[in-house]
Amino acid sequence: MRFRPLRTAPREGATLLPVSEPPADMRAIVFDAPGDPGVLHEASTPVPQPVMSELLVRIVAAGTNPIDAKTRAGRGVSGAIAAYPATPGFDFSGVVISTPYEAHPLPPGTEVFGMLPFPRTGGSYAEFAVVPSLSVARKPATLSHVEAAGVPLAALTAWGLVVETAHAHEGQRVLIHAGSGGVGHFAVQLAAYFGAHVVATGSERNLPWLRELGAQVTIDYATTRFEDIVSDVDVVIDLVGNVHDDTGTRSLGVLRPGGLYIMVPSGAWPDYAEAAAAAGVRATSYKVVPDGGVLATLARLLDSGAIQVFVDRVFELSDAAEAHREIERGHARGKIVLRVAEG
Ligand SMILES: NC(=O)c1ccc[n+]([C@@H]2O[C@H](COP(=O)([O-])OP(=O)(O)OC[C@H]3O[C@@H](n4cnc5c(N)ncnc54)[C@H](OP(=O)(O)O)[C@@H]3O)[C@@H](O)[C@H]2O)c1
Repeated sequence: MRFRPLRTAPREGATLLPVSEPPADMRAIVFDAPGDPGVLHEASTPVPQPVMSELLVRIVAAGTNPIDAKTRAGRGVSGAIAAYPATPGFDFSGVVISTPYEAHPLPPGTEVFGMLPFPRTGGSYAEFAVVPSLSVARKPATLSHVEAAGVPLAALTAWGLVVETAHAHEGQRVLIHAGSGGVGHFAVQLAAYFGAHVVATGSERNLPWLRELGAQVTIDYATTRFEDIVSDVDVVIDLVGNVHDDTGTRSLGVLRPGGLYIMVPSGAWPDYAEAAAAAGVRATSYKVVPDGGVLATLARLLDSGAIQVFVDRVFELSDAAEAHREIERGHARGKIVLRVAEG
């Protein structure tokens, strides 16, 4: 029997948007050298060409993350930038323009969201990007592109921390620092979803919201020492580290013997492993994996309402520098997203 390409026989119920040939050039945010947010500027750059199993995607919205700002400043993953000018950004939501083969499961016109391998190739602060097939999934049907763009890196991190590293389960006691941020708000919801007893730190204005997300105990980090409230926790998910008030060191003291300390911001506490060993607890760092299969699972959880994404601020693509200033203030509730196009 002759194979019929999905391009003409889409998955039942799947809606394909019309696609047109990509232009030669596109609008993108670039920086020519590391520096403060002012180094980000708009430029016309060539639309990237997919190779092998990559998809070409038209980006409707680009999510931002602290790693974007750290990298722009010459820290983060800036060491892996092969050449300038570079376009920042990992997260996107958009529409597939071309696929590596006709029967690809995400045919042209499919609305997808995913995480790019920036900085090895171009980033998502642009009108188009090429992305490995394994790093994308169908966009959650109930979410706008702006909402979906806020999901990938932060929710994949939260999944990796809560599900794959902490193995969250009924009765487990988990302390999550910075529960109100991009990663934290997903981590609180996922840990609660899998039955854990969640304690979350945040500032006073975010505590009622953290309880709505599923935290049973909330602690204002500005006024209360968390070690005065909690003890004997099984896992600490530390999204702060020792860059603020020895959050990491103090966390070791609230773990039960043999409990697990997870240090998330790279470099925020270089000596965590030795300190944890001396305290009699286990410790690990963590690195996010751009996994389209996990994104598909997260999409189902988002569409069912089991978890939600909260978008705090939306900036136009041309205002990327302002978005980075907002990231660097460090007080976003949930996500900051760039609107790239209508749709
Ligand atoms: N290793 C990896 O794979 C990986 C992946 C993702 C993220 N990260 C890193 O993890 C960190 C968190 O990322 P993110 O995207 O969640 O950041 P984010 O969204 O910028 O976090 C902002 C939130 O942090 C809260 N916060 C700030 N200082 C705090 C403190 N001392 N105690 C408790 N809460 C505090 C703020 O709450 P208030 O406004 O109430 O102060 C705000 O809601 C970043 O350093 C990021 O680079 C690493």
